[in-house]
Amino acid sequence: MSNFDLTGRHALVTGGARGIGAGIAEALATAGAAVMIGDILDALGRETADRIATAGGKTGFVTLDVTNESKWEEAVEATVATLGGFDILVNNAGIEITALVIDADPDDLRKMLDVNVVGVSLGVKHAFRAMRPGGLAGDGGAIVNVASVAATIPFPSISGYSATKSAVDRLTRVAAVESGKLGYGVRVNCVYPGLVPTEMGMRLASDVAAVGLWPTPEAAVADVIGLTPLGRLGEVAEMADAVVFLCSDAARFVTGVGLPIDGGMGT
Ligand SMILES: NC(=O)c1ccc[n+]([C@@H]2O[C@H](COP(=O)([O-])OP(=O)(O)OC[C@H]3O[C@@H](n4cnc5c(N)ncnc54)[C@H](O)[C@@H]3O)[C@@H](O)[C@H]2O)c1
Repeated sequence: MSNFDLTGRHALVTGGARGIGAGIAEALATAGAAVMIGDILDALGRETADRIATAGGKTGFVTLDVTNESKWEEAVEATVATLGGFDILVNNAGIEITALVIDADPDDLRKMLDVNVVGVSLGVKHAFRAMRPGGLAGDGGAIVNVASVAATIPFPSISGYSATKSAVDRLTRVAAVESGKLGYGVRVNCVYPGLVPTEMGMRLASDVAAVGLWPTPEAAVADVIGLTPLGRLGEVAEMADAVVFLCSDAARFVTGVGLPIDGGMGT
């Protein structure tokens, strides 16, 4: 059996209803894992789960607002009950609200902190509690947090978002050290996707034009491509494949790292 095979694993993917999260959920299922989708978008989340089921995967959906701790407890319980275990968590849910520093809105900053930092932190907390020896699942596992190339380069008009993704990067590393030292048996890594043309990615291109940094969204995308050594935008499947790797035994001695999936943009 390949070290990339995830047969017998049980994953929860936050923000799995659409975009990169849906791609990650489908790739984990293709690699053999049973996959629970957790999202605030119920109808879309169930559609993604249905697609996985139709392709033959064991799956389910749970309503999960990652900022709400009691919802995390319910989501972990639902994952174990539906899938029969819990040994992979992908903290993918995230939001981005564009603004120049000079126009920063405290409510928007707090919203991003809540989803992108508090949400990821609560996810790691409840995964550790469930996956460590004696926990509800108790078999160890792997956590992948979705940060961003924005944690590695200064891109204008996303200071708040970049700050939250830098925080994800740091909390990933601290969590990896605690897990190792305290014997939880859980590896913790993060990824830094480059620009991917999902709803979020395309809205960002429009927003950076709207704040006057580029004349059009197309010009903004062209400049991002110009900053990318591989000369194109990323694809959802490319983000998903890197996450599958980090969840798999092929990465069994990898913890506390941030893996760029950005075509070299952050180099
Ligand atoms: N698209 C890009 O260019 C890009 C680049 C780098 C990093 N990322 C990161 O990748 C992740 C996925 O982004 P995407 O492009 O697929 O975005 P998207 O907006 O298309 O999808 C985000 C998903 O997260 C869910 N979500 C939002 N708030 C939530 C909450 N409180 N609780 C649960 N679910 C919630 C949404 O409902 C949605 O399904 C995000 O963390 C994002 O910051 C995206």
